[in-house]
Amino acid sequence: MKKLSILLVALLGFSAISAHASIANAKKLVLIYHTQAIAENKEFAGPSAEEGKAFFNNKVKTANGKEVACASCHTANPADNGKNIVTGKVIKPLSPVVNTKRFSDFDKVEAKFSQHCVDILGMDCTAAQKANYITYVLTEKTPTVKAKK
Ligand code: HEC
Repeated sequence: MKKLSILLVALLGFSAISAHASIANAKKLVLIYHTQAIAENKEFAGPSAEEGKAFFNNKVKTANGKEVACASCHTANPADNGKNIVTGKVIKPLSPVVNTKRFSDFDKVEAKFSQHCVDILGMDCTAAQKANYITYVLTEKTPTVKAKK
């Protein structure tokens, strides 16, 4: 499957030059993961923002008994700054619409997915989960307007 991704990355071309490159790249990633997901499961109905949102907010019990979701660090709105629950450090918004640095490097995205999915879910995310997840974060375009806690 890795080979297919490399081929697709080469075909689609990734660029981090223009301001909207992050959105274009995120959409290309959806296409790549969608293609992979179908190769893994012919019944995959296509990326769903709703499923991506549910996945993002879904709390899972980790090895140390804590309940953690992607949203625990990235917050419930991926257009907002997040906060790392382990280190306390600020995490820039995940949404490529507000943070043009996101999804600009396929290898970084793959590495982060593997790392976070293994940390939280105990296994790498499936291509379908990744396609749904990026489809979802693309829909989050507006940071929450509220006083910082
Ligand atoms: C313990 C805190 C924490 C949790 C929980 C967490 N993340 Fe992250 N995530 C981070 C940090 C830190 C970064 C890197 C920060 C940066 O690049 O600015 C990051 C970056 C990412 C990126 C990289 C995006 C890019 O291209 O720059 C992806 C994708 C990602 N996380 C997905 C997930 C998913 C999916 C989950 C849930 C399964 C999740 N994260 C849960 C802390 C977390």
